[in-house]
Amino acid sequence: MPRIHGWIQAAMVLKDALFTNMTFEQWSQVVNPKVQGTWNLHQTLSSDMDFFVLLSSFAGVIGHTGQSNYRVVNTYEDAFAHYRSAKGEKTISIDLGVVLGEGFVTENDKVMDRLMRLNIPGQTVWTTAPQLHLPQSARCVLPPASDKKLSERCRLPTNHLHEHQFLVAAQRTRTSSAMPTRTINPFATVSPSSSTPSLDALNEKKEQPRRSSFTKGNKFTSLFGGNTPRTRGEAAALRDALVAQQQALLDNPSPPQQINTASISLPTINLTTATGEKMPTTEPKTLFNPEEARRKARADAQFGPIGSQKHRYTSTFEGEFGDPVEDEPPYYFLLTTYISYLILIVFGHVRDFFGKRFRAAHYSHLAERDGYAPLNSDFDNFYTRRLKMRINDCFSRPTTGVPGRFITLLDRKSDDGNNTFKLLGSTTETLNMSSYNYLGFAQSEGPCADAAEQAVRKYGVTMASPRADSGTSELTVEVEDLIARFVGKPASMVFSMGFVTNATAFSTLIGRGCLMLSDELNHSSIRFGARLSGSMIKMFKHNDMRDLERLLREAISQGQPRTHRPWKKILVTVEGLYSMEGTMCNLPALIELKKKYKFNLFVDEAHSVGAVGPRGRGVCDFFGIDPSEVDILMGTLTKSFGANGGYLAASKEIIDKLRTQNAAMLFAESPGPPVLVQIASSLRIISGELVPGQGAERLQRLAFNSRYLRLGLKRLGYIVYGHDDSPIIPVMLYNPAKMPAFSHEMLKRKISVVVVGYPATPLVSSRARFCISAAHTKDDLDRMLAACDEVGDLLQLKFSSGVAGGADPEELTTQEKDSLSIVKPPRWRLADVIKRGAEDVQLPLK
Ligand SMILES: Cc1ncc(COP(=O)(O)O)c(C=O)c1O
Repeated sequence: MPRIHGWIQAAMVLKDALFTNMTFEQWSQVVNPKVQGTWNLHQTLSSDMDFFVLLSSFAGVIGHTGQSNYRVVNTYEDAFAHYRSAKGEKTISIDLGVVLGEGFVTENDKVMDRLMRLNIPGQTVWTTAPQLHLPQSARCVLPPASDKKLSERCRLPTNHLHEHQFLVAAQRTRTSSAMPTRTINPFATVSPSSSTPSLDALNEKKEQPRRSSFTKGNKFTSLFGGNTPRTRGEAAALRDALVAQQQALLDNPSPPQQINTASISLPTINLTTATGEKMPTTEPKTLFNPEEARRKARADAQFGPIGSQKHRYTSTFEGEFGDPVEDEPPYYFLLTTYISYLILIVFGHVRDFFGKRFRAAHYSHLAERDGYAPLNSDFDNFYTRRLKMRINDCFSRPTTGVPGRFITLLDRKSDDGNNTFKLLGSTTETLNMSSYNYLGFAQSEGPCADAAEQAVRKYGVTMASPRADSGTSELTVEVEDLIARFVGKPASMVFSMGFVTNATAFSTLIGRGCLMLSDELNHSSIRFGARLSGSMIKMFKHNDMRDLERLLREAISQGQPRTHRPWKKILVTVEGLYSMEGTMCNLPALIELKKKYKFNLFVDEAHSVGAVGPRGRGVCDFFGIDPSEVDILMGTLTKSFGANGGYLAASKEIIDKLRTQNAAMLFAESPGPPVLVQIASSLRIISGELVPGQGAERLQRLAFNSRYLRLGLKRLGYIVYGHDDSPIIPVMLYNPAKMPAFSHEMLKRKISVVVVGYPATPLVSSRARFCISAAHTKDDLDRMLAACDEVGDLLQLKFSSGVAGGADPEELTTQEKDSLSIVKPPRWRLADVIKRGAEDVQLPLK
């Protein structure tokens, strides 16, 4: 055996888990190779080697809650290098960043995926493995098996020995001092021609400004020379180079995937489910055990990994805010829609007429009995039995598992015309376009779920009391502070239900002698609460600021009915984003009117908080308006935050009044601890306090996805309602028969969508409503577009005339140049829609 001139200790094992959930085995599997292994080597090898390199990780510096074992061992290696260096033995611990091009991370999808999600690559990344420039004559050998003594002495805990562990035995005759100090350059890139800046080249820069964080002996400093000024300068250069390389990686994301329309148009799901029930029968090809593979599949089914850094967009408002142009279908389509309803209604009445006479037992609940009036008999009952029942299989589909990127439906069938359903015992996995999971926080994996799990262990699931009794804990107070800070108001109050928040808010704020001016499309919880308040309610046309101004002028000039006394208070109530229309309120115009007519403004941000605005803080953030301009901001915690409940945020005085008088505070159960923890952790992620970078990624992916699908649908020829940045995309179907047809066709393609008709929409505007999530990937949306393309042709749903957009931007430019006003109906080929979409969403949508 030749003399051992140097050693590179590259052993590593990852077994991530929260410390509280970690088994001793998980701990030792990670700790032993690096701690025990390094110490064995230290004792075994000679102290006058030319080098002893420890390949440590930056995890030891920045740490991560799920990697306490890995963090400890890397910190150990850093400390060990100090210890050995102090004894005069040439040792260095190199804190490696993430290597994306090869090595451990690429071999382990789970690790790669998690790092991407945690935005760790955003913090330090190498595209290729650091190459160690060893002298040509050096070779790597493992101790010969015959040399039992050496093998035994060099032995690391064998089952944890990483393949990169190797021994360098140099056959050269040079002495260690002949070895140049830059012989080992851990920062050289493998491919000098790569577009990322060559770190080697940057290495050559001698004098760089010092950075205090890099003056520690073992962080990117010279391998053998200690902390001389020259090497510190070099270290700073290296760090700058690393940052430059990271930036280059972000600027040059992975190339777009080849579009294959055939594969898109025939989607198959083999992704395993959100519940992880249907696993492939073959053993997964991964280094991880099946349980870990299952976990990864489940995590991906809940939140898809981003395909390219280009699939991001910042939701913000520029220019003048206008109402979106509403396209209309051909007249014959509206006519057949009315005729369809007429036939259904007439047919229903005929059936009722004969049914009541010849099958009286079936209609007893609708007939007067013993002088008692039938409580069931009204138009809603007729509508439910004779119209909705016909397509009831499209509604309230039972599900199992997490409603994330995918959703698992429980298969069912009905033998009595959708009156009752039987579960078949099987499930169908579908792409989920139906849940209000805007930021993708509907997850049973990840930091929020971990925190909620811990909360259950610490606090249980219930507060077992209303807020006013013993239902206010430190968690409640913390969440209220977080919400107030997030939305930019001095104070806030949380409720256990969004509906209850609105239902009980207005009776505390307004009453007799007060006027509420409410948008005609406001949610039923607002209407419900408004009626309870006892105030006078008037409605203005949806988002119509002229109508609102007309009502305001009339109300202020005329005062209360009969007495003509001035109104005690006028409250204008709107929603930030309307969940059936996908339209946003015209906040700038409302604020103008507010200044002019001095009314109070209430904005329900159920669908806009977390969903719009560069920082996800709702419509004020989107329009760049100071939240103090709005008197009361209401929101729900059900949608963007993946939790439950609602909040009101306002001045301290208003919140204090609510705390003392609001019925929910006094009589309703307060939100449970795991829910509060889910709210707190999702808020912290969005604001970047927790897992920096992930919140921004979620927001930007949501904005990109929303615009991408909307633009694609318009280009295919659909009539789509709403504003461009809205994550709710209503696609118009009109005819009642198209609702079940569309829903069934999408289900055949394994996509879950919600269809909505009267009374939730006007009679003739039945629609499908797609809810976009940050959890969707571009591939999911392409699959959606492919399905819509086919189904649109099959059911004749492509009516767009082009007035609402979807035209080719190049054609538009020519038209604009020639000032022609010809609008061509957009009917793009799917392949072109997909090819052009990702770039075109970055421009104003046309
Ligand atoms: C505008 C609006 N406000 C309030 C609510 C009620 O919220 P929750 O479902 O959380 O009870 C909803 C529900 O969708 C809504 O759309």
